[in-house]
Amino acid sequence: MSESDIRSRAEKIKRAVGRLTEIIENILAHTRATSGAMVLDVHDFDLNGMVRRVCDYHHDEHPSHPFEVAIDPLPDRYKGDPLLLEQVFIIVLSNAIKYSPVDCPIRIAGDKGDGAIAISVRDQGIGVLAEDLPHLTQPFFRGRNAKHMPGTGLGLSLASHILDLHGGSLRVESREGQGTTVSIILPTVQTFNAGGGI
Ligand SMILES: Nc1ncnc2c1ncn2[C@@H]1O[C@H](COP(=O)(O)OP(=O)(O)OP(=O)(O)O)[C@@H](O)[C@H]1O
Ligand SMILES: [Mg+2]
Repeated sequence: MSESDIRSRAEKIKRAVGRLTEIIENILAHTRATSGAMVLDVHDFDLNGMVRRVCDYHHDEHPSHPFEVAIDPLPDRYKGDPLLLEQVFIIVLSNAIKYSPVDCPIRIAGDKGDGAIAISVRDQGIGVLAEDLPHLTQPFFRGRNAKHMPGTGLGLSLASHILDLHGGSLRVESREGQGTTVSIILPTVQTFNAGGGI
């Protein structure tokens, strides 16, 4: 085999291992969350920096998706579980990448109001059928127009559990064929849910 054959096969193996790892991690985290065993490790962290770092990493991995990042209003000090909130953002951003064609921009915006912070991810992809919209956070639910793409249907369910433990929520606006905006809503002043185990 030539060096470039070996390189491209190694890349394929790396991607396949990455996908498997993601599936296993999602299933484990989902089981922890739904069995009440998810424990929040809460401390102050740089929310703005986390969003920027995840955007940079994903843009490096998927350079053909243009990213527009406008997150200045997001605070650089926020109290929450940094790893779990990072997982929420990765779930939402990965969906935008997976369900939209390359070359279509993905816009990541941050907003801070009186009582809430919003991190929204807007894509111009396949969108969601109106009748599927209410079910997106059910475990294992997959939209009818998404079934030909790889996935387990656990991402948004896990994301909404994690946000619930932080006193936050997930908002999805979408039209089939026209794109989707998913917003991660977090309280500016946190009231951690008792189920959080802290
Ligand atoms: N940005 C998006 N555009 C279009 N459909 C979306 C988007 N995000 C989520 N969906 C729909 O919501 C469903 C649930 O999403 P979720 O992330 O929970 O699972 P998944 O992407 O199918 O699989 P995985 O568990 O691997 O993330 C998807 O199957 C898809 O139908
Ligand atoms: Mg997903």
